[in-house]
Amino acid sequence: AEDGYDLWLRYRPIEAEWQARYRPVAASIVVAGDSPTMRIASAELKRGLDGLLGGAVAEDQPAGAGAILVGTPEESPMIDALGLPLESMGREGYLIRSIRIGGKPMTVIAANDDVGALYGAFHFLRLIQTRQPIEALDIRSTPKVQLRLLNHWDNLDRSVERGYAGQSIWDWWKLPDFKDPRYTDYARANASIGINGTVLNNVNAKADSLTAPWIGKAAALADIFRPYGIRVYLSARFSAPIEIGGLKTADPLDPQVRAWWKAKADEIYRAIPDFGGFLVKANSEGQPGPQDYKRTHADGANMLAEAVAPHGGVVMWRAFVYSHETPDDRAKQAYNEFKPFDGRFADNVIVQVKNGAIDFQPREPFHPLFGAMPKTPLMMEFQITKEYLGFATHLAYLGTLFEETLAADTRAKGEGSTVAKVIDGSLHGYRLTGMAGVANIGSDRNWSGSHFDQANWYAFGRMAWNPDMKARPIAEEWARMTFSNQQGFVSPAVDMMMGSREIVVDYMTPLGLHHLMASGHHYGPGPWVDDLERADWNPVYYHRADAAGIGFDRTKAGSDAVSQYAPPVARMFGDIDTVPERDLLWFHHVGWDRRMASGRTLWDELVARYGRGVRGVESMQRDWTRLAPFVDAERHREVATFLAIQRHEAKWWRDASIAYFQTISKRPLPAGEAPPE
Ligand code: GCU
Repeated sequence: AEDGYDLWLRYRPIEAEWQARYRPVAASIVVAGDSPTMRIASAELKRGLDGLLGGAVAEDQPAGAGAILVGTPEESPMIDALGLPLESMGREGYLIRSIRIGGKPMTVIAANDDVGALYGAFHFLRLIQTRQPIEALDIRSTPKVQLRLLNHWDNLDRSVERGYAGQSIWDWWKLPDFKDPRYTDYARANASIGINGTVLNNVNAKADSLTAPWIGKAAALADIFRPYGIRVYLSARFSAPIEIGGLKTADPLDPQVRAWWKAKADEIYRAIPDFGGFLVKANSEGQPGPQDYKRTHADGANMLAEAVAPHGGVVMWRAFVYSHETPDDRAKQAYNEFKPFDGRFADNVIVQVKNGAIDFQPREPFHPLFGAMPKTPLMMEFQITKEYLGFATHLAYLGTLFEETLAADTRAKGEGSTVAKVIDGSLHGYRLTGMAGVANIGSDRNWSGSHFDQANWYAFGRMAWNPDMKARPIAEEWARMTFSNQQGFVSPAVDMMMGSREIVVDYMTPLGLHHLMASGHHYGPGPWVDDLERADWNPVYYHRADAAGIGFDRTKAGSDAVSQYAPPVARMFGDIDTVPERDLLWFHHVGWDRRMASGRTLWDELVARYGRGVRGVESMQRDWTRLAPFVDAERHREVATFLAIQRHEAKWWRDASIAYFQTISKRPLPAGEAPPE
């Protein structure tokens, strides 16, 4: 069935002309070495080429014309003899080159380490999957970011926080003995896009996950993932020494607490020798942390860092912190709590920062910490699962969101100081680099809850490998591999993906509005909500609409969040005449009658944006209908049905939001905009 299980690794037979063109160039596979990783690379090439080229490709022949040589110089004398420039390519980089040996044309996929060769094998298959020429290759690829991680928010009862694709794929009760084949497919999919680590459990962690039985389960997964170059990490609950250690305190400066964590780390490393380390959410949203003991984030992180350091582990300490007891603007709190500690973290600590200062909204300006911590490695946290973008039913390709954040200029060291350069470590010379994506993976047959959400997992992996990659070519690769290479399909499908997230912004939170989703589940509109126990969870806290206007004043006259950015950025955001319209109401409280670039008043523009969002979904529906000839009926129908849901809900968003804001603006609907139905 065309149920989406194969993701972008479909390997269905391609067009006869292309098969005829590729076959002589990919006639046999010659893999050097017998490690588990090399066996996987070999099996993947075999599976891919057999499937795509529609016939059995030869293996292990003495290399002849059309051979694909795969391996490391160490294992393969033939590759060694080529004298390829593999220095400075690390463990994970690879070269793919068209070469001649004894006059015979061949292709070499070479790396310093087996895992690099595996990445190269997937790249080679991608060329065929996307119908690229393979006769004259000269490809060199190394990851720009070291830690390329999925963060699973999976609970020990298999529920998934903010997961919309079924249950957790970790079948904890059957682990460690039963190894679901799905774990292997998960590892393959991740390796195909260069993801090299996975945090198994929710950041809102239970201490139980650090007890012996759970360590055993994690170890079983680590054994499966290891040959795919993937390390396992765990979220650690800061108060675990009390809950499972029987101590009276979790104070990071208490010697017993430190000893407990060291012993715990030793125990984990005995079971998982290449354990990656800990991810920690501390003193945020009620989670325990060092501040409970009047200690700092640095004290907490450094204690854990000390425990894993002898084993080569890292600590990823999250900067997603805010407390309603702090009267200040929530958007300012992470910066206020972390900036003073720049340079005070241990060498194996990396601070993990969400893309924006609030919480994974459809659009947020880049987080002010990027560029502000030159002496402390920062890693990116994106959310792949669409908590605030319509869960799995709404179509929103997030490549554009990732690109927009990564391409943003922090101006920290002059023009061109992009967030991408912070993340890849080049701007500040970070010793550790990383990018994490909160996974959208679950037990659904199609993994992600919808076919198009697979693209967000894919795009995350590609951009973690290279944060300078652009959303459009990634969407194109994915669409070709997942659906069809026919031109009639590719360009309209890619155009649809590229516009999709802006459409969601329009019908949910246009012009810089944010956090207006209904409370708790975050699905559907709730801009009127004002009675939650915590002020900073109420949508009214964020839009601040009143008789005069709407928006959050974060200029000097308001919360002054703008001053957390480098001066040129602070000036740009802080000035109502230079702030981009898309961020207007994030930074300014604006009069309803202010003239916008379109010539309309703010009120009329707001209404127009909501309408544009609904029309955008309608146009995606029309595009998708026209693409029916290129897509199997099963997947086409599901996407079409989801788009119908999305249209319905876009109208819900528009009508509810306009009706509510109109009670405050007291202005009529502009001519031409349909009144709420
Ligand atoms: C959001 C999300 C929570 C999550 C939190 C986090 O607030 O709604 O479910 O725990 O982010 O990132 O820690």
